[in-house]
Amino acid sequence: MKILCCNARSSLILFLFPPLTAHCADKCVHGRCIAPNTCQCEPGWGGPNCSSACDSDHWGPHCSSRCQCKNGALCNPITGACHCASGFKGWRCEEHCGQGTYGNDCHQKCQCQNGATCDHVTGECTCPPGYTGAFCEDLCPPGKHGPQCEERCPCQNGGVCHHVTGECACPPGWMGMVCGQPCPEGRYGKNCSQECQCHNGGTCDSATGQCYCSPGYTGERCQDECPVGTYGVQCAETCKCMNRGKCYHISGACLCEPGYTGEHCETRLCPEGIYGLKCDKKCPCHMPNTWSCHPMSGECSCKPGWSGLYCNETCSPGFYGKSCQQICSCQNGADCDSVTGKCTCAPGFKGAACGTPCLPGTYGVNCSSVCNCKNEAICSPVDGSCACKAGWHGVDCSVNCPSGTWGLGCNLTCQCLNGGACSALDGTCTCAPGWRGEKCELPCQDGTYGMDCAERCDCSHADGCHPTTGYCRCLPGWSGIHCDSVCAEGQWGPNCSLSCYCKNGASCSPDDGICECAPGYRGTTCQRICPSGRFGKNCIGICTCTNNGTCNPIDRSCQCYPGWIGSDCSQPCPPSHWGPNCIHTCNCHNGAYCSAYDGECKCTPGWTGLYCTQSK
Ligand SMILES: *[C@@H]1O[C@H](CO)[C@@H](O)[C@H](O)[C@H]1NC(C)=O
Ligand SMILES: *[C@@H]1O[C@H](CO)[C@@H](O)[C@H](O)[C@H]1NC(C)=O
Ligand SMILES: *[C@@H]1O[C@H](CO)[C@@H](O)[C@H](O)[C@H]1NC(C)=O
Ligand SMILES: *[C@@H]1O[C@H](CO)[C@@H](O)[C@H](O)[C@H]1NC(C)=O
Ligand SMILES: *[C@@H]1O[C@H](CO)[C@@H](O)[C@H](O)[C@H]1NC(C)=O
Ligand SMILES: *[C@@H]1O[C@H](CO)[C@@H](O)[C@H](O)[C@H]1NC(C)=O
Ligand SMILES: *[C@@H]1O[C@H](CO)[C@@H](O)[C@H](O)[C@H]1NC(C)=O
Repeated sequence: MKILCCNARSSLILFLFPPLTAHCADKCVHGRCIAPNTCQCEPGWGGPNCSSACDSDHWGPHCSSRCQCKNGALCNPITGACHCASGFKGWRCEEHCGQGTYGNDCHQKCQCQNGATCDHVTGECTCPPGYTGAFCEDLCPPGKHGPQCEERCPCQNGGVCHHVTGECACPPGWMGMVCGQPCPEGRYGKNCSQECQCHNGGTCDSATGQCYCSPGYTGERCQDECPVGTYGVQCAETCKCMNRGKCYHISGACLCEPGYTGEHCETRLCPEGIYGLKCDKKCPCHMPNTWSCHPMSGECSCKPGWSGLYCNETCSPGFYGKSCQQICSCQNGADCDSVTGKCTCAPGFKGAACGTPCLPGTYGVNCSSVCNCKNEAICSPVDGSCACKAGWHGVDCSVNCPSGTWGLGCNLTCQCLNGGACSALDGTCTCAPGWRGEKCELPCQDGTYGMDCAERCDCSHADGCHPTTGYCRCLPGWSGIHCDSVCAEGQWGPNCSLSCYCKNGASCSPDDGICECAPGYRGTTCQRICPSGRFGKNCIGICTCTNNGTCNPIDRSCQCYPGWIGSDCSQPCPPSHWGPNCIHTCNCHNGAYCSAYDGECKCTPGWTGLYCTQSK
């Protein structure tokens, strides 16, 4: 089999335009047959039938090109492009990653600090002298310095060494290369650069500069002598000199007044009670009250509670103590003990100087009594008496104001009328039901009743209702709780309490009792019948009965006069009848005329007799 490979141009042409008749006995695995038994391989493949992949050092069609990649980079078998190993870059991976980057494709950012270098492959930090830590972010630990923090620090006495150079920075009070030397006398502070300021032999703290004074002196720079009455180291000792002897501020030694001697000037040069240069004069002091008599001048100084030239006078008010020289601190009228100055408080106050009023609820001497006031009354801290609030009285304010009074001391009179109750506190009125107004002087308005006139009357035919109870006041002729029932028949007037007096079946008006007469009657009590010829209600009908017929006033019916008949009596009796309602039959004979009135026979001539039956 022939391999067609070497001229790239001709192989490309053959690859693109293969002869139509080409035939390869072996199949071209990764390529095509371009001439009899000749395969054209795809890039990355080689071998007679294009079945072998390129090795790592070759690329391209038939693996005929040599890879150019450096530093262990792999080359693409098809294109020959280099795939760099971690930490490298460039066309042929010939360069390290740029500063500050590392890793695959140099994509990672270095994290090293303080000028450390960074490994281009792993990113590992290599620290400069003086630093440590994964990213060189830490100074060397105390006591170490230099490259890899491996060198030992030489500084003493708390000196701190520089993390790079190892140079010592000394604490205040020390100096020298390794801080081994204390400050020289008179200097202090950092580098011993400050000058001490202590006077009168005081020494200075080499670190802080603070002064330690020598005995007898005080102050920040030992510039002051001890205060009068004290001496020694830090002026902590108390002078013991008596009788106005002066005390030396350094040693405490006493310098006595004339007339006295002894270590503490405690000894009088003259015997007790005597004074003068030659101890020949008698003290003028009143001895029981005298503290001392001056051995030279004979001047008296008195015991507590006494004063005056001769110590025979008591203290003025407000003073106490030796020769009454001290001023009492007692306040609020307290007594002051002229000897001790102790205060005895007035009732209502307490405390050492009696400056504190008793707490609320307590009173009296020492504030030791408990108040007994009731109902928020104010209790006097002095004597516990109660000042009652409005509405209360009594010693302990436990009693309500008596009925009808109110206010402070129950001194005001209630003004509430009509049974209204008054507030003991402010005198306001609470009205009884049915009343209103500031003083309950007004009754409820029409139509209302009850407490605060808040209820509405519920009445139908009434003159309002009772302001207290709400009972309806019915108009005459009405009854019932709501005045909605007319009086029963025969009753009338207020409460339907009157009986009708009408006669002859008349009814009466429920409101005024006036009679309404039945037809045929008249008069105020309907006691009279209608006048003749009249009939009906109020007798206003006019009767129509004729021929002396009498009329029934009730139903206008006619009672005919004998001889007449008909509803209005206008018809005479029929022939041969007579009498009322023509009920009788005539008995007249022989042509006699029969009276329709009474049936009397009027005989024709020739006849006589009652019935004209006898001939004359
Ligand atoms: C390609 O050729 C090799 C020897 O060069 C042979 O072993 C292999 O079987 C062949 N592959 C095909 C598919 O013919
Ligand atoms: C101490 O002395 C050193 C060297 O003389 C100097 O560098 C430093 O500034 C001084 N420090 C102070 C607080 O004076
Ligand atoms: C105090 O004593 C002096 C001298 O003995 C005397 O004159 C004076 O009256 C006395 N005063 C009183 C208050 O006793
Ligand atoms: C007041 O208190 C003082 C000191 O506690 C005490 O001596 C005194 O007896 C008390 N007085 C009364 C009246 O309780
Ligand atoms: C009450 O009246 C009396 C006598 O008029 C008077 O002494 C007292 O101070 C009054 N009280 C008040 C609290 O007004
Ligand atoms: C009506 O009746 C009531 C209650 O029975 C009574 O208080 C009132 O006086 C009566 N009125 C009259 C006008 O009799
Ligand atoms: C009516 O009565 C009177 C006397 O009673 C009598 O004189 C008169 O004639 C009577 N009239 C009639 C129409 O009967």
